[in-house]
Amino acid sequence: MSSAARKRPEDLRSHRWFGPDDLRSFGHRSRTKGMGFDTEDFAGKPVIALLNTWSDLNTCHSHLRERAEQVKRGVWQAGGFPVELPVMSLSEQFMKPTSMLYRNLTAMEVEETLRCHPIDGAVLMGGCDKTVPALLMGALTMDLPCVFLPAGPMLKGRWRNETLGSGSDAWKFWAERCAGKIGCDAWREIEDGIARSPGVCMTMGTAATMACVVEALGFIFPGAASIPAVQSAHSRLAVACGRRAVEMVWQDVRPSRIATRAAFENAVTTLMAIGGSTNAIVHLIALAGRAGTKLTLDDFDRVSRRTPLLADMRPTGRFLMEDFHDAGGVPALLGRIRDLLDLGCLNVVGKTLGEAIDGAEVLDDQVIRPRDGALASEGGMAVLRGNLAPDGCVIKHLAAEPRLRQHTGPALVFRDYPDLKARIDRDDLPVTADSVIVLQNAGPVGAPGMPEWGMLPIPKKLLKAGVRDMVRLSDARMSGTSYGACVLHIAPESAAGGPLAWVQDGDLIELDVAGRRLHWHVSDEEIARRRAAWNAPAPRFARGYGKLFSEEVTQAHEGCDFRFLHHGPPTPEPDIF
Ligand code: FES
Repeated sequence: MSSAARKRPEDLRSHRWFGPDDLRSFGHRSRTKGMGFDTEDFAGKPVIALLNTWSDLNTCHSHLRERAEQVKRGVWQAGGFPVELPVMSLSEQFMKPTSMLYRNLTAMEVEETLRCHPIDGAVLMGGCDKTVPALLMGALTMDLPCVFLPAGPMLKGRWRNETLGSGSDAWKFWAERCAGKIGCDAWREIEDGIARSPGVCMTMGTAATMACVVEALGFIFPGAASIPAVQSAHSRLAVACGRRAVEMVWQDVRPSRIATRAAFENAVTTLMAIGGSTNAIVHLIALAGRAGTKLTLDDFDRVSRRTPLLADMRPTGRFLMEDFHDAGGVPALLGRIRDLLDLGCLNVVGKTLGEAIDGAEVLDDQVIRPRDGALASEGGMAVLRGNLAPDGCVIKHLAAEPRLRQHTGPALVFRDYPDLKARIDRDDLPVTADSVIVLQNAGPVGAPGMPEWGMLPIPKKLLKAGVRDMVRLSDARMSGTSYGACVLHIAPESAAGGPLAWVQDGDLIELDVAGRRLHWHVSDEEIARRRAAWNAPAPRFARGYGKLFSEEVTQAHEGCDFRFLHHGPPTPEPDIF
């Protein structure tokens, strides 16, 4: 950025609130002074919003209050005026039916909070799954200079001599408990040891995936996506984010200069190289939509086929985010796939991606593999199509037992989640290890909110018989910490009249990952007969936000954003002066 591009104080957006000699500006200044600030604190300075998703019910963000003070220190150091504005926290653990129902609400809140206040730039503070896309979706639309401060992963979990990973080891040991292999005391010890500090899930779940992907996209400091939440380096990162946000305002580094089509392609490449969460597909499509560019499922499949899987991370591999950070993090990983990236893309520190990863070194080849020792020659995800998913669906096939990647079996259908809960563990359930378990009405409209129900439980009687993976189909998502032969995001979803709605017990379903195919062995005439007899389920919500969501949400392959929030003509600045 040339110094010629630097703004003058009177060019600041906040100047319209604080600068003029009129009655309204008098009110803005006098009320700011009422909080104990002097003219020297704010006049002519970039106002930096700290959009903080701290909450007592978001355990992953419990350190963000303290980090906010550190961000403020950085803003003051650089000559800015920090203001902390809480925005809705999307707690993956506590929000029901799913935090995904509220991603778009937080994105709207971020956009409007930035728009209606005297803000020049922002530090986006979050990390727990949906907070990352939500904060960034709103900021992309508002297009004010911003930097993302990721919450950082929590410390590795411990139980006896085992290292525990968030989510993944909870599923694993729960299956063992259901199979009668571990008892109550051991289960309680696991509960005590699996979450040992503030921070986000430390497997390569959705939170860690989104942090890595957003670093590759350019909004997180190089190497910062994986800094553990409780390390002092994380505090120093917070201060640096505050300083940098002020500089970005003077240099007018807006998200639209960073979030280009090429940068999104880099993000998708990173997703495949880390073997990240399938949720990132939905979020990246939504983010691209906000940035005025387009990502399709075919882009993900194309990039997956050319990108080696290099990070040996749970749930598909062995290591956790602390190990990934110690091995060099995202810059070291990207250094190994330079030829697959557009190195000219700009990031928030004002460098190109090529400059950001220059000299980055992998310090542990076990965690980040060399190209000739890749875990797989292509990324772990595949996009499938067929008469059950005309608009596509996805599978994280490297997280499935290999024998199931080519499988044909009879459907066992559950019409919705309550039906699944009520029947899955019954002793008389007509199921075998070859069955294909199908869950309907779990998509964006049907659930609503497309919850992470996609890792459908293995029936207890099969668990006891030693079965640990089966082909499972739904229009839901699954947690990034989950695993198994789970076909997800089937579109169109069943509640919107997708073919999944018409599957019946006993129908043969064929999964063919290599052929990218999901085929339902039912004749066209029979499908037409069932379609004609089908009635759409009644909407869950008759009023309020749930109604708005159900009416406006797009399908999974379109990113599940609201139709009216897609990139479009600029929204006018507030006109109240
Ligand atoms: Fe917050 Fe996993 S529960 S990141």
